[in-house]
Amino acid sequence: PVDWYAEMRANAPVYFDEERNAYDVFSYEDVQRVLSDYANFSSQRQGEELTSQSIINMDPPKHMKYRQLVAQAFTPKAIDALAPRISEIAKELLDEVADQPEFDIIRDFSYPLPVIVIAEMLGVPNQDREKFKHWSDIVVKGVDFEAGETIEQNLALRHTVTQELGAYFAEVIQSRAIEPKNDLITALLAAEVDGEKLTVPELLGFAFLLLVAGNETTTNLIGNTMQSLLEHPEIWEHLVREPGLLPSAIEEGLRFRSPAQSMNRFTTQEVEIGGVVIPAGAEVIAWIGSANRDDAKFVKAEQFVIDRSPNPHIAFGNGPHFCLGAPLARLEGRIAMQALIERFPQMKLKQDAKLSIGLSPIVSGLKRLPVTI
Ligand code: HEM
Repeated sequence: PVDWYAEMRANAPVYFDEERNAYDVFSYEDVQRVLSDYANFSSQRQGEELTSQSIINMDPPKHMKYRQLVAQAFTPKAIDALAPRISEIAKELLDEVADQPEFDIIRDFSYPLPVIVIAEMLGVPNQDREKFKHWSDIVVKGVDFEAGETIEQNLALRHTVTQELGAYFAEVIQSRAIEPKNDLITALLAAEVDGEKLTVPELLGFAFLLLVAGNETTTNLIGNTMQSLLEHPEIWEHLVREPGLLPSAIEEGLRFRSPAQSMNRFTTQEVEIGGVVIPAGAEVIAWIGSANRDDAKFVKAEQFVIDRSPNPHIAFGNGPHFCLGAPLARLEGRIAMQALIERFPQMKLKQDAKLSIGLSPIVSGLKRLPVTI
């Protein structure tokens, strides 16, 4: 909805959407404020059952105590240690398609990659990988209207799968309690907040959050960036000639087609923003996708500039909730795209491919990205 964003920034940068009963915020400056000013814009929400116990729904100071528990597993140093394993997974996935004339970057590569990585971090053994992939897919995917699915059917399916996944993790938790391993679940089991161990629902909340927050977004980081590069073959060729541009290409991919387009908050009191007074208790939607295209902040905001510098995009959010997985997402993005450059420098978008985009207003990306190699 890039045109919609531009129109709204120009005409109604803070807008009350009656249908959704929520305030939309579009400018870079205002979005940045909504995401970080937690005294006025709170993250505490009813929440979906899956992540209701998790940090993404907490405000400081409680938020920080819990965030610190997982933060250690996500420092750049800890994440860098995963690089060899991520490269191996990328290589295995590309081995499977290398002898074909074409493949689908999403289905065959950018979708399975982050699921496998996070499954291994959590300590899901290899033989459970398929089962786990299936569950996590259903947990994160929206209603498949195209396939004739109804909202009720989707809810029922998600409910079943949530229970299965919950039971599965409960077992993993139990087994790590007896026999610790070098994985995230073991680390969380050992952790304490104010001298208290985490409860099982809290542990489950963390595990679900990592699934929900990290998989589809990383899939879309790779897919969206590849789309932006391949749409303009000369940009792709530029990158192949100068692979040193990869980190900045990824930052620009994050800005240009942000995997997370919006995040919401709830006002704690009456508050003024962008000249509009919002009442207490209102839902506010911060449009990250619009902020990242704001030409008050970015020159040539509507263009993909592969070597853009500086690039102060807020694709990973801003303030206390800044994406915990950002170092991991960047690393996975770099390794995945490096592998694509090395293996298939001649890659092209498949002629006449229909690039259909998913329907969620939050997570944005293609469902398919077929290429010839
Ligand atoms: C939070 C985006 C990948 C875990 C966030 C937020 C954004 C975001 C915008 C802020 C939410 C808010 O302000 O309410 C992204 C994007 C990704 C990505 C664009 C990929 C390109 C990951 C990965 C993981 C992860 C790989 C972990 C495996 C989290 C967690 C939070 C979070 C745990 C909550 C942090 C908190 O509430 O303190 N992410 N994310 N994300 N992300 Fe990511």
